[in-house]
Amino acid sequence: MTKGNRLKVLFVTTELAPFSKVGGLGDVAGSLPKALSQAGVDVRVVTPAWPGVLEKVAESGLKTTTLKTQVYAAYDWRIHSATVIKAEVKGVPTYFLKSDDYAGDMYPSQLNYWTASPFAVFCMQALELKNAVDWEPDIYHCHDWTSAFLPCSLAWHRYYRQVGGRSIMTLHNVAYQGIFEPSPFLEASGLEPWSFSSSTMEFYGQVNLLKGGIVAATAVTTVSPTYAGEIQTYESTRELSGILYQQRSKLRGILNGLDTKYWDAEKDKLIPKNFSVKDLKGKSACRRELLERAGFDTGTDAPIIVGVSRLVEQKGFDLVLNGINEIKAMGAKLIILGSGQDWIENGLNQAAEANPDSIKFFRGYDEPLSHVLYSGGDIFLMPSVFEPCGLSQMISMRYGTVPVAREVGGLRDTVFDVDRPEGGNGFTFQTCDTEGMLWALRRAVERYRNKDAWQEIMLEGMREDFTWDKSALLYKELYEDLMQ
Ligand code: ADP
Ligand code: GLC
Repeated sequence: MTKGNRLKVLFVTTELAPFSKVGGLGDVAGSLPKALSQAGVDVRVVTPAWPGVLEKVAESGLKTTTLKTQVYAAYDWRIHSATVIKAEVKGVPTYFLKSDDYAGDMYPSQLNYWTASPFAVFCMQALELKNAVDWEPDIYHCHDWTSAFLPCSLAWHRYYRQVGGRSIMTLHNVAYQGIFEPSPFLEASGLEPWSFSSSTMEFYGQVNLLKGGIVAATAVTTVSPTYAGEIQTYESTRELSGILYQQRSKLRGILNGLDTKYWDAEKDKLIPKNFSVKDLKGKSACRRELLERAGFDTGTDAPIIVGVSRLVEQKGFDLVLNGINEIKAMGAKLIILGSGQDWIENGLNQAAEANPDSIKFFRGYDEPLSHVLYSGGDIFLMPSVFEPCGLSQMISMRYGTVPVAREVGGLRDTVFDVDRPEGGNGFTFQTCDTEGMLWALRRAVERYRNKDAWQEIMLEGMREDFTWDKSALLYKELYEDLMQ
């Protein structure tokens, strides 16, 4: 970076909402760059063109150009090339890499040398992007294990370590680490043999890309201040806490924000009727629509508890399944949208079949339907076992749906119990058990019966500032620190 020039940062991400998204990483990659750009950073994004991505880009009406020069990666004893398609997404130059390496499913169900290869190739192609565009990043900003090979390459690759460069590893979820057998990866990847030691990428005899990324990156961030502390302790990280504690001087916790223009009850076109802090009337139409979609009596005034989630252990749905009878006994309706592990899907299906007039399970990933749940619900349930940040609780508050959440990770930084002396925006519990969750839910359901008190809580959440403004400045500060 020459003096007076804007800092140049390349976001290296395997998800990018609205074109590719499995969870919150997609949302963050799809919204933080715009905020950084508004804060004066010259930020650009590179992402794989997974199946369907370019079609969605075309559908959204964005103009694309195919660059003359391809990007190349030397990996697995051959050259992997990708075509670079450029578009301006929310004003941010974005490069979609198209190649056979990205023709399969986004994330493999089993990780091994072959299924991990697209992620290594992607990182090398991201490092080569500067040769295809007339722009060289000062900092590579990487996200989760799927782009952790980039910092590893800058530190340990036979060629790239000589080129050098600064990198940031942002941890959206330390539970996913990119672990697989070292052979033939170590020979095929071009990494120096010493990259595979207990203080670098080696992890119980396996390769651990996230561990490598954490050690190799110039700085590490995670997505909430509380999670930044939690991951340095044993329980919450599947055994990377030692490394994270050791690396703590380069670790910062920066709270996620939302694309508040997209998640906006006042303007959202995917909800039946808009509403706002000034006029809440439209919320009843949203409620009715949700009850109708769930096949419930649309005239009921029973509180509607909703959940929109990946159905994995992290999200605490075992507590929900264990508490089904008690939730029913509270006289509430429960409506869940999600997909994931079979045992959770089956459990929710069975609960819904046994209680057709009070429990509904929408199985699958459905962005438009999620807006109907966020806007039509009264209570948003998020009993996570751990939660690096969590966006769903913030989204629900934007739509006047009051969160009931466990005090963990980013939930602890965003949901505050209304029964604190200073008041709050939701209902929280500490212990990770069904009783704890039911205790918070009961308080919420009781309070719901008092319409005035409830409205105050809804408004409190709707007024929260979940924009990226503050956090974008913290990232900018970090970029500047790295350039010293
Ligand atoms: P995580 O990233 O751990 O899944 P977050 O709360 O950070 O959790 O982000 C989840 C994002 O994914 C939110 O935007 C949420 O609305 C969305 N999402 C999760 N499951 C579904 C689903 N089944 N259908 C639609 N959107 C979903
Ligand atoms: C991960 C975490 C979630 C976080 C999201 C975006 O998927 O599970 O808590 O909000 O990343 O950072």
